[in-house]
Amino acid sequence: MIPFVNLSSQRNAYREELEIATQRVYDSGCFIGGKEIEALEAELSTYSGATQAITCASGTGALLLSLLALDIREGDEVIVPDFTFVAPAECVALLGAIPKFADISKDTFLIDPAAVEALITPKTKGIIAVDLFGQCVNYEALKKIANTYDLWIIEDAAQSFGASQFGKKSGNLTRIATTSFYPSKPLGCYGDGGAVFTADENLASRVRALANHGSTEHYVHESLGTNSRLDALQAAVLRVKLRHLEDELMIRRQNAEIYNAFFAHFKNVQTPTIAAGNTSTFAQYTLVTEDRTFWEKKFAKAEIPTCIHYPQPLHTQPCFANFGAHKVSTPQTEELCGKVLSLPVCAFTDVKEILLRISSKSSE
Ligand SMILES: Cc1ncc(COP(=O)(O)O)c(C=O)c1O
Repeated sequence: MIPFVNLSSQRNAYREELEIATQRVYDSGCFIGGKEIEALEAELSTYSGATQAITCASGTGALLLSLLALDIREGDEVIVPDFTFVAPAECVALLGAIPKFADISKDTFLIDPAAVEALITPKTKGIIAVDLFGQCVNYEALKKIANTYDLWIIEDAAQSFGASQFGKKSGNLTRIATTSFYPSKPLGCYGDGGAVFTADENLASRVRALANHGSTEHYVHESLGTNSRLDALQAAVLRVKLRHLEDELMIRRQNAEIYNAFFAHFKNVQTPTIAAGNTSTFAQYTLVTEDRTFWEKKFAKAEIPTCIHYPQPLHTQPCFANFGAHKVSTPQTEELCGKVLSLPVCAFTDVKEILLRISSKSSE
């Protein structure tokens, strides 16, 4: 079975650089904070164009820190997409606020601005927009709504770090953005990791303090915070991988093109739509098909792994049962959950080989 994300081939390709980088951290004796973190934050900020990059313990941590820095309170409402990973809605609910589940546009899988507007009430404080599968939400449309109703937007760039919208990089499209460095992400470390991006100095210093027990001065705690820090070893790994990110993204996009050309011959398969002005990281390459079981079996027979991102609308998850889930209606999300299928697409995946295997297995 080929891996869904080929991290061992990636490690082999960068082995020497990774070893030098991690050895430097072991020798320094500095494992939390310090020069490695400072250097990574500067490099992330240069790469994304965001003035401040604040590293933290995970993408989920980055969302929690951002919500806390934006002063989210019990009973506040935050609009989140219904079709995504659990983290955005989970963080809102964990802080005592109420996630309101918005439907998505069927072609791009991204939160639908009209669905967002329909959910706004006097209690709404903001929107978490997820750049699902690697392309950015229509921020121009979303910002118009946010400005009209005086709402903030958090860009959840966990899957899109490296993508751009009309030439501007993901992470630098809203007042505050978050990302994840989970190992299988387009920029992943060797454990958990994440970052918050902002140009707002006030928000940046609040996020920094919150990630370090609400403290800016040793043993002085101005506010309640937590421990959400990236460690120096992960920073060293990320600095190596960041140097290769653009090349990897180029290969991911080529892989997507190869799949697109292959599936163009199948009437019942819809390949990903990338909106005008967007580039995608292809964190996932996801098909929509009425014949999902047929394709799942075909790939499995050829020993190619596939994944379903995501099998059920978030509002139907048991953990959100007390958040008015019975009133939520998201027909596009519901339909897609039954039809999506993600294929291996990382820069170390040989898509031509995959398609050869599929074609030869199908003729058996
Ligand atoms: C859209 C989205 N947001 C947040 C997260 C959470 O990131 P982490 O696993 O680093 O906490 C993920 C992780 O898969 C994600 O896909």
